[in-house]
Amino acid sequence: MTEYAAMPVFPEHTHFLVTGGAGFIGSNICESLLKMGYRVRCLDDLSTGKTENLESFSGCDRFEFIKGDIRDFDTCMRAAEGVDYVLHHAA
Ligand SMILES: NC(=O)c1ccc[n+]([C@@H]2O[C@H](COP(=O)([O-])OP(=O)(O)OC[C@H]3O[C@@H](n4cnc5c(N)ncnc54)[C@H](O)[C@@H]3O)[C@@H](O)[C@H]2O)c1
Repeated sequence: MTEYAAMPVFPEHTHFLVTGGAGFIGSNICESLLKMGYRVRCLDDLSTGKTENLESFSGCDRFEFIKGDIRDFDTCMRAAEGVDYVLHHAA
């Protein structure tokens, strides 16, 4: 995966949670954020999403995957812990 310098919009270690990150849109967002140098946590229940969508960056040490349902409060609390922004694409 090509690494790009972090965009100046967010501090270098900004941490994003992408819900639905194994889906079409979410996985592209995850990949773009990782290419920009940010940390990314993905929350997805894999109901329509695919782990294949994560393959190109799942080995990145700034990426973390949580399999879970956004309708579960405790799962959301765990997924959101320590993150700066939530990008919601689970649907
Ligand atoms: N693809 C498009 O062109 C497009 C255009 C406009 C709007 N949208 C909307 O954007 C959203 C995402 O679209 P997409 O094409 O990436 O769909 P997608 O099905 O590929 O991705 C949705 C992801 O959400 C996950 N998900 C669903 N329910 C979940 C739950 N309860 N908990 C955790 N994860 C859950 C699925 O497993 C999947 O990975 C949808 O709301 C869609 O209607 C998509």
